[in-house]
Amino acid sequence: MKYQTEIERRRTFAIISHPDAGKTTLTEKLLLFGGAIQTAGAVKSNKIKKHATSDFMEIERQRGISVATSVMTFEYKGILINLLDTPGHKDFAEDTYRTLTAVDSVILVVDSVNGVEDQTRRLMEVCRMRDTPVIVFINKMDRDGKNRFELLEEIEKELSIHLHPMTWPINSGKDFKGVYNLAEKNLRLFTANTRADESDIVQISDLADPVLDEKLGERDAATLREDVELVDGVHGELVVEDYLQGKVAPVFFGSAVNNFGVKEMLDTFIRIAPIPRDRETTKRPVAVDEDKFSGFIFKIHANLDPKHRDRIAFLRVCSGKFERNKYFHHVRLDKDVRFNNPYSFLARSKDVIEEAYPGDVVGLFDTGNFKIGDTLTEGEEFYFTGIPSFSPEIFKEVINKDPMKTKQLEKGLLQLTDEGVAQLFTQFGGNKKIIGCVGELQFEVIQYRLLQEYGASVEFRAQPYYKACWITSKNPEKLKEFTRFKSANIAEDKDGHLVYLAQSEWFLNTERTNNPDIEFHFTSEIH
Ligand code: G4P
Repeated sequence: MKYQTEIERRRTFAIISHPDAGKTTLTEKLLLFGGAIQTAGAVKSNKIKKHATSDFMEIERQRGISVATSVMTFEYKGILINLLDTPGHKDFAEDTYRTLTAVDSVILVVDSVNGVEDQTRRLMEVCRMRDTPVIVFINKMDRDGKNRFELLEEIEKELSIHLHPMTWPINSGKDFKGVYNLAEKNLRLFTANTRADESDIVQISDLADPVLDEKLGERDAATLREDVELVDGVHGELVVEDYLQGKVAPVFFGSAVNNFGVKEMLDTFIRIAPIPRDRETTKRPVAVDEDKFSGFIFKIHANLDPKHRDRIAFLRVCSGKFERNKYFHHVRLDKDVRFNNPYSFLARSKDVIEEAYPGDVVGLFDTGNFKIGDTLTEGEEFYFTGIPSFSPEIFKEVINKDPMKTKQLEKGLLQLTDEGVAQLFTQFGGNKKIIGCVGELQFEVIQYRLLQEYGASVEFRAQPYYKACWITSKNPEKLKEFTRFKSANIAEDKDGHLVYLAQSEWFLNTERTNNPDIEFHFTSEIH
């Protein structure tokens, strides 16, 4: 176990939330604690600004920013923290899902006023699929939020996870007075824009301490005493193992914009969050402390400059040591590759690095060799599993408006879909190309980029599909028969896997009932 010290020093995670819950603000406060930035306002939000003239132009602008904030590495109390950014816009949810395959834990931000929102639900589903450990930060306690007990109940019910309060709030909105730390049994009084130093902390001997009445007033002190008795009675001490298995989520209350409650969470995070973990592959589990290097690509980012088709592939190191200029095995292409200028994301500047360890994310310049899910090893043949693609929700046929540019179009479609911008399906036995996306915005992005970067002009024709289901069967004859019979609805994905395009839920259910030998899957493992 050569690299044990390096592994134990690392925590790799993402912050997830519904847009506007406070992810950017919280990120910024964490970076301030880590000394990675000096001033507030330094982290650019990657969300689509509300009044942008055109959403997709805004996305183009954001692409430049989001490379810089894709991974933010900082140190806090001797721990090296890799914070992976996730796009805020719902049309780019798939990007977020893939980023979640590269982290070891997440922090979920919930707006105390709005409670559980759409995207919170979807993102947490992905975390549940992988049993990712979750810490919950209930934000905006300085606003009149929902009743704290009801809010916790709502989160537990809607997200199917047990919660374990670590701090407890005293009121909310303009009456918000602070939080009581249930484990350390002290009180942190609320002040706007706190430096979060020790001076705001009031030590109390126990809850009966009259200091509580003095600081909070008798009524609020009494309520706190009652609340804490109830909460402690129900929850007791946090069992860290339950958190690590994704069964229980510790909860903190605070206000990111006021930097309140953030430090408590960060201190707990570095204490309990998982170090890089072992991972499954198509061949065998890979232990994080193996000597040999392995890693996978979870994200590809196109360069903004249309004249250079260079891309940046994001590699998550899973075991061993990544080294600059050393040859590694690209499993899918069956060739050895090396990298002159791999870079790290320390302190938000792109520095060329010599080596990286499990948990780290390395940026690799790519001229088209990579696609999402690709695995690098020191020679062994396997792929990391658990990097699914999800069924798109909107389908459109690509209409080539300029037959002279057919080649460029094909290349553009392949490259953009390698990046994971959209999924490409080819009609079975024909050559109709169908693009599937999660949101309308992606079609605009594809149209724009095909023209800008490949000179190919396209239009889209809406297709009446509702879901794409990957189909498999233990009986090859039955699969062949089904494919022949339903050929109008069958397509192949880029890897040649068969897909059934269902017009509606009713059609899908009917086909399922009529074809018990065929299995319909809503996600496809990329490998
Ligand atoms: P996001 O990345 O999750 O989309 O959210 P972001 O951090 O951008 O926060 C969304 C809005 O909520 C911002 O206001 C931000 O200032 C505010 N906010 C964040 N934390 C708190 C908090 O603890 N209390 C309150 N009251 N507000 C909070 P904005 O007006 O949209 O943007 P800005 O002009 O302030 O940047």
